Amino acid sequence: MSTMAPFGTDLLQQIDGVLGGERDPWANAANVAALLFEHLPELNWAGFYFLRGSELVVGPFQGRVACTRIPVGQGVCGTAARRREAVVVADVHVFPGHIACDPASNAELVVPLSSAGRLVGVIDLDSPRAGRFGAADVALVTAVADRVAAGCDWRLAGIDGFA
Ligand code: SME
Repeated sequence: MSTMAPFGTDLLQQIDGVLGGERDPWANAANVAALLFEHLPELNWAGFYFLRGSELVVGPFQGRVACTRIPVGQGVCGTAARRREAVVVADVHVFPGHIACDPASNAELVVPLSSAGRLVGVIDLDSPRAGRFGAADVALVTAVADRVAAGCDWRLAGIDGFA
């Protein structure tokens, strides 16, 4: 009889692997974006936005060119950043204020990234399939965000409050 590993175990193990010997935020975000895009099915964008003042600025990602700056409070990313909670959007076309970067995107999941109680940025996933993201994805990407938050030296990132 075979036993299945819990959803995301392999992804989390590989993330622990890349974070294990490196504290640089950009290096780690770049590798984590690549792992998310490789491991999670039906994505057309996976990556980071980082907080700069009152805006989120695009960081390492996999996918098509994305909008560079998103004010906190706007779009799905800015909403997750302001609420400091994960936002799941089954159909981005009916989300008020959604910022369209790639017309192929139909569903979105954004999870905030916080360290020592301070917002650092967000992890953003887009999918062409409406309704793609559910509770298991929120739990998995939250676990990813927790690992990234703990695994980086944010003083190297030039983010307010981490000088
Ligand atoms: N759709 C996002 C913008 C970022 S892209 O999806 C990569 C939003 O509404 O915040």
